[in-house]
Amino acid sequence: MAKMFDTSLRLDAPGPRGIPMVNNLRFLAHPAWYTLDRLAPLTPGPVLAATGGNGSVALVRGEEPVRRFFTDNDTFHRLSDGVFSVPQGRPWSKMFEAVITFNGERHGRSRRLLMPIMHKSVMEHYGEVFAGTFARSRFARADGEPFDMAAEFLAITRANMLTGLLGLEADAANVELVEQVVALLQTTLNPAVFLFQVERAWTPYGRWTSRVAGIYERFAALVERRRAEEPARDALSILCHTVDGEGDALTTPEIAGELHGLLAAGFETTAMTMTWAMLALAGTPDVRADDDETLDAVVKESQRLIPTVPLSLPRRVTRDVEIGGSAPVPKGALLFASPMLEHLDPEVFPDPHVFLPSRWAGLRPSPYRFLPFGVGQRRCLGAAFADLQVRTTLGLALARGEPEVVTPHVDYRIKSGATAFPAKPLIIRFARRPARHTPITGSVRKLWAA
Ligand code: HEM
Repeated sequence: MAKMFDTSLRLDAPGPRGIPMVNNLRFLAHPAWYTLDRLAPLTPGPVLAATGGNGSVALVRGEEPVRRFFTDNDTFHRLSDGVFSVPQGRPWSKMFEAVITFNGERHGRSRRLLMPIMHKSVMEHYGEVFAGTFARSRFARADGEPFDMAAEFLAITRANMLTGLLGLEADAANVELVEQVVALLQTTLNPAVFLFQVERAWTPYGRWTSRVAGIYERFAALVERRRAEEPARDALSILCHTVDGEGDALTTPEIAGELHGLLAAGFETTAMTMTWAMLALAGTPDVRADDDETLDAVVKESQRLIPTVPLSLPRRVTRDVEIGGSAPVPKGALLFASPMLEHLDPEVFPDPHVFLPSRWAGLRPSPYRFLPFGVGQRRCLGAAFADLQVRTTLGLALARGEPEVVTPHVDYRIKSGATAFPAKPLIIRFARRPARHTPITGSVRKLWAA
């Protein structure tokens, strides 16, 4: 595995005291709380170190540093340096390569060949898929029976990914395929898998590579089928039939890698965005989202206050670089930006910890101060798909009923290094209004004040 942190790097920037490796692991264990509790109280920026004076892990803060971070893609690279250590030379070797990991030319090419799946002309089809999935969901019943809200939103987004992206029915076998794909990425974070990379049937790494191969074969069979069929409106069919102006097209192994990336990036993030928005509504008296404009404000405000992706994906610094007047950030540093921290700046969002959808009337913050999907050439590729899905699903749900929270203690926990989930099942009743208002407790209140 490529060396994740180089603790010998120096950086003349403020940061908490402590042993760099210990602080780095703490940061990665809960980047949102480390950022909020340990880094945010320090000077406003432009660069903060996970350990004062050490250059292995750092965070940029403030509009201009955040702009640099997200737009200077030659200096700040996504990690593609072998973290997943997939053996080369096999049909499935590209399963962890995708637009989300590429840098430079390869990133530009992938992004260009993927863009047609997010074209305006396909959104109508996706909208029909989202409405169809909603009609089969528990929210559509609004019968007042208790259920786990996050699990239900996960089932909804899983079905939408299967049908909208892959053109498949959300039956048991296909649902299991998505589960296996998502689990693949989580297993890579398991030390038993990445520390002992011997490929035998009995080693955790060997079992993992055979799972990768199995999923690749299912993806490759799907791709071959779609190539042989007439073009259809699901994203996979579009990818299989896209050829750019120069005759370039994605190969089958490349499409498999991209499908893996899209499922990993798009399924849990969308479900949790809906979960946090619905929770914020349930926990705030007298806020209703009964027209498109108010719903839009509710979604933006919950994305601001309880972000699903509180920190950017990490970037590797490729040369010594000053950011917004900082001391040089050393080549090799692992650098982050935090949408969560930018979203809590009182100069842009007065009373930043209050859930106040009405603040969005006429408010147009800079794209470097409000950035639930990142910004720049690497902005979330699925943002339009996710926005439509969130607004369609929540809009249909809130036209039927209101949520009442049964388990009001909600902890905000980061899973797989990036996405914020409620730590335990979040049980609600969903019924025709009016619902009883329940004050929310738990660590989510660190972001969202009563
Ligand atoms: C509300 C749900 C979603 C949220 C909050 C979200 C958030 C993000 C963020 C913050 C980034 C950029 C990270 C960075 O630059 O550090 C990103 C990138 C990405 N997202 Fe999303 N995402 C969501 C849904 C989706 C969906 C539905 C898909 C696919 C269908 C998707 C595919 C991607 C891809 C491929 C990238 C990498 C883009 C690139 O590097 O060029 N995301 N997402």
